[in-house]
Amino acid sequence: MLCLGIESSCDETAFAFVEDGHLLDQVLASQVPVHSLFGGVVPELASREHYRYASVLFDDLLARTGKRIDEIDLVSVSRGPGLLGSLLVGVAFAKGLALGSGIPLLGINHLHAHLLAAGLDVDLRFPCLGLLVSGGHTNIYHVVSPSSFDPLGRTLDDAAGEVFDKIASFLGIPYPGGKLLDELARYGHADPDLLPRPYLHNDNLDFSFSGLKTAAVQCIEQAFPVDAWPRPLRKVDDAPQELKDFCASFNLAVVETISVKIQRAFEKFPSIDSLILAGGVAANTLLRENMAALMEMRGGTLFMPRSALCTDNAAMVAYAGYLLGTEGAFHLLDMETVPRGKKMPDDMLFRIKSSWATA
Ligand code: KG4
Ligand code: ZN
Repeated sequence: MLCLGIESSCDETAFAFVEDGHLLDQVLASQVPVHSLFGGVVPELASREHYRYASVLFDDLLARTGKRIDEIDLVSVSRGPGLLGSLLVGVAFAKGLALGSGIPLLGINHLHAHLLAAGLDVDLRFPCLGLLVSGGHTNIYHVVSPSSFDPLGRTLDDAAGEVFDKIASFLGIPYPGGKLLDELARYGHADPDLLPRPYLHNDNLDFSFSGLKTAAVQCIEQAFPVDAWPRPLRKVDDAPQELKDFCASFNLAVVETISVKIQRAFEKFPSIDSLILAGGVAANTLLRENMAALMEMRGGTLFMPRSALCTDNAAMVAYAGYLLGTEGAFHLLDMETVPRGKKMPDDMLFRIKSSWATA
């Protein structure tokens, strides 16, 4: 089965082909340079950029792979959650393609696609726990199967990636600063007592990072004069050692907070022995090391995508499309686009498997 994936939920326009579960190729246009001028994603600009690049990228993918439109078996597209105007560009493109070519359409939950992305590299085992840490979400799931995800916990305020980006921006690191903050941390020595591990005195699996953010901002204001390093700060070499140490302490506070909640989730599901780590923040070096050590200690397995598949991409959408498509899932052309904050409808339709080949 040749499955096309389309991603446009935030600031990355991307197309990919997954054939029989394997990534054939992917193309991606990042809008980071556009939005970094404003310190965050500007929704109106994001939609316009998606519109500018969608057809060009699709043509490029066809040319690179030598595939023709009539060879595609399923058009899968991120339908949400995300920025409505951005999602609409990808969904309208997918619907136009499906309508014009007669290829079945399938709307994909962007969050579920993140969680399934590791399956492109390794065989996932279900049921397992899932940790999705991105710019918009910090969620823990009981992943029953590729089509069944029970949410167990979420952030009550900022998402992990949002906190990384906000603190990075406070330090003069351009948006999205999580990656460079992580890199700086690798050259620093963490002080485990510098910052709090927030919202742990409870027995739930939710997160709240706002207290950590406030504590980190106060720490920066007290410890660093404004002219202590060049702003914007773009490379590790320009940063003084104290800044690298602070980044290491901040990184440690976020990662240890997440780690406590993940251990708690395993206590609630003692028969489960594997964890999927996903989302942009899953590229974080310390988080990857910490989760790997945790799973080793538990004698379980950690599934995580290679770093390039952690941030938004279309390969994960095409792969989720492939997994659901082989089960016969599809949507009609009236499929809704689902912005952030709106409940995802349970409206997937299924055709009888044997009729798929002749449909
Ligand atoms: O999943 P993603 O590409 O987009 C959303 O759906 O939100 O995640 C982007 C987020 C940004 O906040 C970015 O700073 C963060 O992932 N990020 C990182 C790292 N790489 C990306 N945060 C911490 N450490 C990293 N290495
Ligand atoms: Zn994402």
